[in-house]
Amino acid sequence: MRYITFALPKGRLAEKTMELLEQTGITCPEMKEKGTRKLIFVNEELKLKFFLAKATDVPTYVEYGAADIGVVGRDTIMEAGRKLYEVLDLGMGRCRMCVCGPKEAGELLKHRELIRVATKYPHIAKDYFYNRKHQTVEIIKLNGSIELAPIVGLSEVIVDIVETGTTLRENGLEVLEEICQLSARVVVNQVSMKMEYERISRILGDLRKLLTEGQ
Ligand code: PRP
Repeated sequence: MRYITFALPKGRLAEKTMELLEQTGITCPEMKEKGTRKLIFVNEELKLKFFLAKATDVPTYVEYGAADIGVVGRDTIMEAGRKLYEVLDLGMGRCRMCVCGPKEAGELLKHRELIRVATKYPHIAKDYFYNRKHQTVEIIKLNGSIELAPIVGLSEVIVDIVETGTTLRENGLEVLEEICQLSARVVVNQVSMKMEYERISRILGDLRKLLTEGQ
């Protein structure tokens, strides 16, 4: 029997995912060793492998089949634009992708002005403004602290994740438009889904059952 491989994003989401999997009988004691710098973990008995990757790389590993199953935020999936099956909403890390800015920028949006949009998510921003709003904008890619951009005059608005809204509030910005809802999702490689249909659908079925029971 071949291994089924999971790609998990380093950090809290990986820990939370393992907690969920444990409740379905999938464990990986090796992963719990304190202070380990290992990147890949094996459960020989169940023929499963788990590796920890940077979140933005998870869709890449899954598309190429280096991992059969991945867990990652919907923001990362949308931005990556890779060919994957998105099969399950884990309901964790719920937040929203929004267009934000100072209140006045709402007028610029309404009148479809040629504005500058700063974001860590250029593909999502482009898709939203060009394909959904039919508005031409200039997109400026940043790597973090996006809220700075409208404050220092780099852009009129931003496209960013809003969770509690605290960052916006504390910087005099607000949500102007909501693009979509986000949360952690399970993705599956398209070939693996066919070749290992039974094992993968059992794993997904157990997770789905657990999630609906918990509601
Ligand atoms: C994210 C996001 C916002 C903030 C939203 O940033 O980009 O800045 O969290 O959360 P809130 O609505 O609860 O305030 P993150 O902390 O991931 O860091 P970044 O600025 O480097 O993107």
